[in-house]
Amino acid sequence: MKLSILGGGGFRVPLVYGALLTDHDEGRITEVVLHDVDDRRLYAVTRVLAEQAAGIPYAPAVSATTNLDEALGGADFVFSAIRVGGLEGRANDERVALAEGVLGQETVGAGGIAYGLRTVPVAADIARRVARLAPDAWVINFTNPAGLVTEAMSRHLGDRVIGICDSPVGLGRRITRVLGTDPKHAFVDYVGLNHLGWVRALRVAGRDELPRLLGDPVLLGSFEEGRLFGADWLQSLGAIPNEYLHYYYFNRETVRAYQEVERTRGAFLRDQQARFYTEACAPGVSALRAWDRTRAEREATYMAENRESSGAGEREPVDLSGGYEKVALALMRAIARDERVTLILNVRNRYTLPVLDADAVIEVPCLVDASGAHPLAVDPLPGHATGLVCAVKAVEREVLAAAESGSRATAVKAFALHPLVDSVSVARRLVEGYAEVHPGLSYLE
Ligand code: G6P
Ligand code: MN
Repeated sequence: MKLSILGGGGFRVPLVYGALLTDHDEGRITEVVLHDVDDRRLYAVTRVLAEQAAGIPYAPAVSATTNLDEALGGADFVFSAIRVGGLEGRANDERVALAEGVLGQETVGAGGIAYGLRTVPVAADIARRVARLAPDAWVINFTNPAGLVTEAMSRHLGDRVIGICDSPVGLGRRITRVLGTDPKHAFVDYVGLNHLGWVRALRVAGRDELPRLLGDPVLLGSFEEGRLFGADWLQSLGAIPNEYLHYYYFNRETVRAYQEVERTRGAFLRDQQARFYTEACAPGVSALRAWDRTRAEREATYMAENRESSGAGEREPVDLSGGYEKVALALMRAIARDERVTLILNVRNRYTLPVLDADAVIEVPCLVDASGAHPLAVDPLPGHATGLVCAVKAVEREVLAAAESGSRATAVKAFALHPLVDSVSVARRLVEGYAEVHPGLSYLE
């Protein structure tokens, strides 16, 4: 089985490779091809992987290329984990928005729109190439903004592209832990868009345990999302939101706090990773040790304190066992070996949320088997959540339209319609500001 990793020189690739190394079973990945536009990054990551594989029998063979078509040919699975514009681009996404007094963040609000505008054309090109060169491959999309990018790719690949994120699984795990329930037997009723979803129920043996959590301020104060949103607000909502909803519910405070930091998250990671790649390419050093140290430092400095370092079957427990790389591995195993599992994934809606059309990509528990990922029926979203989901999906659609037409006016519309951008004039200035700093937006006319 061949896995191609796009963005193969990326910092998180060793996590994915580490997960592959734990798989000794028949049908596992035996060949990994790393693709990146930057061969120095490929060299650094290849060195890390070689050290990870040392002494491990059956470690997947690793090769690297800067030729995309070569990487895609014959792939069974394609992971897309690219960052168009690099971390410098992320830092600019944050900076331009914060200077306008609106949220500057990797995936949410103005920053996320700017990131989407330059990523969608590249992701669509990749999807078209996959359709041509590896029509039977499954694409697992990690590229942010993950829901939007998955939808852009699904226009060319249909249900063969599946988006993943580690935040819903992390939230589900924390809730089960606080409630003392066995995560192996818990169904997390979660739905929304990527980084915009809510847990409305936690079903264990047919019983909803969430009211027990919502009714207990002490329990609510004992986990990250509980502290982040506050017991009172969670009780008012009657649901536990994804941590990214903090940017909506406490927008003014988060914008101010981000305006006050000396370096944004993107700028911090840009500088930190520049050091890592220099070190990992130097002769005589352990690239793995350099990676591991950088990873630990990154995890210790997550901006939100709410991060961890680390039909029939409709109500089967959601697999809550792991982070981003474990979700990816579980997904591949389920598809390649028909090992049925329930995972929270980004897939086309079908009829799950009746307010959205069937092709809208949403984030929802899915039953996965050899035939792909199938969204499960979930409780309807409450009115205010439906409103936010519809508003943000409308913005995503404008981003997709702008990327396709190259229309600057459509890009302005995308920013202006976002609930966290408070004026059309601001939206116009954001497009100006982003077009100046991002070469990847030169297509806008
Ligand atoms: C979580 C989210 C990802 C996001 C990441 C940012 O894992 O699910 O979508 O990219 O956080 O973390 P970072 O260390 O890059 O700030
Ligand atoms: Mn995510």
